[in-house]
Amino acid sequence: MMGIKISNMITEEKIQKRTQEIGTALSEKFKDDTSPLVVISVLKGSFIFYSDLIRQIDLDFGCEFLGVASYHANVKSSGEVKMTLDLATPIEGKNVVLVEDIVDTGLTMQYLLSYLKARHPKSITTVTLLHKPEATQVQCPLDYIGFSISNEFVVGYGLDYQGYFRNLPYIGKIENLN
Ligand code: IMP
Repeated sequence: MMGIKISNMITEEKIQKRTQEIGTALSEKFKDDTSPLVVISVLKGSFIFYSDLIRQIDLDFGCEFLGVASYHANVKSSGEVKMTLDLATPIEGKNVVLVEDIVDTGLTMQYLLSYLKARHPKSITTVTLLHKPEATQVQCPLDYIGFSISNEFVVGYGLDYQGYFRNLPYIGKIENLN
């Protein structure tokens, strides 16, 4: 996008190292559990993190995708979440790992957790690449956090600004956002 300056905030190397650590921790957590495991990507934002993370989990599991569009980017308090893609298989009785790109207010995560709980999984483990603790409006249990960041708008590695910048291999900060 013309005129937008992005500075590198979290390098590709740091992301890969942390992703590996979380993948190893998840492998440990479920290695002796005989119930089926399903790892869910929340689209669109988590698709890059998800694809790197699942290759660090040394277990058998199913891959699922949930699409959500958050409409509180402009109206921060509305908390309206629209589901754009539903799960393709039941999760009842399964261990579920939910993979998010970023938890900002927590409203999307809250919505997703109630959606999943209603489908009676055996357990839900939450993973988010990024967390903005200062922006929290609703507390949600976050089991694995890649990086906690300050309350600034970030892009890259799956995260977008107006649909763009998802392809950046690092997490960047827009320097000149009004
Ligand atoms: P929450 O519901 O406020 O926690 O926001 C979650 C969603 O808002 C994320 O899944 C992102 O799609 C979007 N979002 C929040 N903060 C950022 C950001 O800094 N960059 C890009 N997207 C963001």
